[in-house]
Amino acid sequence: MGMSVTISVATEQDAEQIFRLQYLCFQGEAALYGNYRIEPLVQTLDSLRQEVASDCVFVARLGDEVVGSVRGKATEDGSAAISRLCVHPRLQGHGIGARLLRAAESALAEERGATRFRLVAGHRSEGNLRLYRRVGYQAVGRAKGSDGVEMIVLEKPAGQYAQTA
Ligand SMILES: CC(C)(COP(=O)(O)OP(=O)(O)OC[C@H]1O[C@@H](n2cnc3c(N)ncnc32)[C@H](O)[C@@H]1OP(=O)(O)O)[C@@H](O)C(=O)NCCC(=O)NCCS
Repeated sequence: MGMSVTISVATEQDAEQIFRLQYLCFQGEAALYGNYRIEPLVQTLDSLRQEVASDCVFVARLGDEVVGSVRGKATEDGSAAISRLCVHPRLQGHGIGARLLRAAESALAEERGATRFRLVAGHRSEGNLRLYRRVGYQAVGRAKGSDGVEMIVLEKPAGQYAQTA
């Protein structure tokens, strides 16, 4: 199934579909933490549009449908923050999430000069943590999001991105 899914840079026209997909995909996380005000659920469409315009945003498409997305943003210290990785529930477990991560990592390294990647995952989100560890991320600390959820901070050096296929 993953074969017919393509990964590309998101365009302005994708913002609404990404917005709806994000809302759908993060319901499970909200339930897990008993918190329906987690950041991906309270983000506005306008703020998402701005990210599509200025950050490194990728989508996974199946025909005309956006079935996955990820965001990356270069920060001043040379590291890049990756966030909002999501894949439509009916298509999870086929490697699309890992492909989206790779796309964001290579663009951030090649186009925005990132030397390391950083992302966060909820401390109880075992599946997410397993996926990130498998593609080379290591836990470097903890942080509390503005939504109050305890997050694990994970990092990996940019040099490794090509080896995680
Ligand atoms: C996190 C998320 C994006 C992962 O997307 P995904 O497309 O399912 O990710 P992958 O398929 O690359 O990897 C997930 C699992 O599928 C398995 N998998 C990968 N490729 C596969 C393939 N070709 N065939 C079968 N299984 C495969 C992996 O082994 C992995 O299993 P694991 O649970 O033991 O780690 C998705 O679960 C999601 O949208 N979750 C809700 C939102 C969320 O929590 N986002 C992350 C915030 S930190």
